[in-house]
Amino acid sequence: PRNAARDDSGELRIAGVPVSELAAEFGTPAFILDEADFRSRCRDYLTAFGPHGIVHYASKAFLCTEVVRWVAEEGLSLDVSSGGELAVALRAGFPAKKIALHGNNKSETELRAAVDAGVGHIVLDSLIEIDRLDAIAGERGVVADVLVRVTVGVEAHTHEFISTAHEDQKFGFALAGGVAMEAIRRVFATDNLRLVGLHSHIGSQIFDMDGFELAAHRVLGLLHDVVDEFGVEKTSQMSVVDLGGGLGISYLPDEDPLPVDKVARRLADIVAREAVAVGLPVPTLAVEPGRAIAGPGTVTLYRVGTVKDVALDGGASRRYVSVDGGMSDNIRTVLYDAEYDVRLVSRVSDARAVVCRVVGKHCESGDIVVKDCWLPADLCPGDLIAVAATGAYCYSMSSRYNMTMRPPVVAVADGNARLLLRRETIDDFLSLEVSL
Ligand code: LLP
Repeated sequence: PRNAARDDSGELRIAGVPVSELAAEFGTPAFILDEADFRSRCRDYLTAFGPHGIVHYASKAFLCTEVVRWVAEEGLSLDVSSGGELAVALRAGFPAKKIALHGNNKSETELRAAVDAGVGHIVLDSLIEIDRLDAIAGERGVVADVLVRVTVGVEAHTHEFISTAHEDQKFGFALAGGVAMEAIRRVFATDNLRLVGLHSHIGSQIFDMDGFELAAHRVLGLLHDVVDEFGVEKTSQMSVVDLGGGLGISYLPDEDPLPVDKVARRLADIVAREAVAVGLPVPTLAVEPGRAIAGPGTVTLYRVGTVKDVALDGGASRRYVSVDGGMSDNIRTVLYDAEYDVRLVSRVSDARAVVCRVVGKHCESGDIVVKDCWLPADLCPGDLIAVAATGAYCYSMSSRYNMTMRPPVVAVADGNARLLLRRETIDDFLSLEVSL
């Protein structure tokens, strides 16, 4: 987090609050969210993409009512990808007009909810969905604004599961083979849909500018084709070019994310230049950052429960540090081989550093939080350790495996701590039982 620092005793304080106080008040594990960090990243994006751009916060990264309010207050729009995310956003009072709905298999219920709420636009992902939404809008007597999601055929250099613009995956309409153009024709032919632009999302946790630039070129190339077929006037209604999310963050100290202002300038330049070249007005450039806004400002606070040295072949040993959470609050290590920075935060230690593996408390050996890290040799039960940059895709991908209660999410700001989501209880679990 931007507002984390050690105090004189060597204990970490986040937004001025000592981690030992947080652990005492809220227990461990706990997600500690630096509110000012989150808000400042919203502002960084807004500043970078300027008054003419649109920044949707991708709520799949992390969503709760208070976060919806922060996003609204900071002037961002919101991207939701399920009826659940949509419902939380609406109940928190987020303006429907500033919400975009995504998904490769939105249910009719989800589409109806979005149409009835009057969301800003819906991003179409299949021919079947074009007809489905056209029928729903017709049934409701409205014209729904839509984007067509284009698969631009760019290999983003990231983990296979979170890379989305190569051809052989489930999202969008391929540029290749004229599939995207076919979708555009289909939308133009409907009575109840208005095509307001194109969308592309090439993947997540990306450090390389080239993929974004290529995507921008290809989306604009498609707009050019639309001009050729339908003329400038008709094409001008497609005023939004949304290039999705995906900007990487540093999970480890030596990683070097792309500066958002540079990305914004490059992309805005490509979009403007290539649109004007084919006679179109300059489109609105939209983006959908999730991880880059929510990720860096949160740490997961765990308490060390056991420390065990395990002999390896060849005489070496590995130190296993068990904490009170694990794959239920952070599945990313297991799922993507994600790497994290972990530190002893409740005190300083002069002991030498030893190679450790931080593991959870779940019933499988793959339950690893941090695979290889250096921690002080005198680390012992009761110590607090913090894993950094867990604000995106940790809570939102959490589970109840082993009937583990989800940790609380605590916001810290100006020396105060405030509970956003309380810890789950056994009664939460049992409340789903119908045969008690
Ligand atoms: N827009 C669309 C259409 C997306 O599918 C996503 C992420 C985003 C925006 C936000 O991307 P971001 O800025 O956060 O990279 N669970 C994975 C990440 C999956 C991302 C899915 N879509 C992880 O933990 O790394």
